[in-house]
Amino acid sequence: MHIAVIDGPNLNLLGVREPERYGTATLEQVHAAVKARAAALGVQVSFVQSNHEGALVDAVQALRGVADGALVNAAAYTHTSLALRDALLAVGTPFVEVHLTNVFAREEERRRSLLADLAVGVVAGFGAESYILALDALTGWLRLRSGGASGVVHV
Ligand code: DQA
Repeated sequence: MHIAVIDGPNLNLLGVREPERYGTATLEQVHAAVKARAAALGVQVSFVQSNHEGALVDAVQALRGVADGALVNAAAYTHTSLALRDALLAVGTPFVEVHLTNVFAREEERRRSLLADLAVGVVAGFGAESYILALDALTGWLRLRSGGASGVVHV
């Protein structure tokens, strides 16, 4: 199973960007944690970060036939990008929308997502841990969907 992680604008500055809001971990450290969890789950992961909307659209289009699922933190483009929405709709790859912060508790513009209704689910507000929670959840969801046990809920 292959899960792609797509990060949008300014996330390359994690660690130095408003650390009181976004935490002190760098994007590299967040990705290292995702990689470690993915290895434990037996899942392959790949990473793309861009500050450019078109490059993010390209990254979403490139999911086709390559990734079983994606974690998408489109950052500010979450709230503005019809192009990213269209790309996710076109490709149809199941994805989880991820945010470090609880966007629903922030300014009104951030409470609206152009992507969330297309997502399997949204994980927001847990800092870097949001990525790990999203990876666990998406892996479980994909495994359940393909007829296996999710490994998340044991009943
Ligand atoms: C963010 C939330 C967005 O509103 C913001 O523009 C970001 C980061 C988050 O992870 O909390 O850049 O996606």
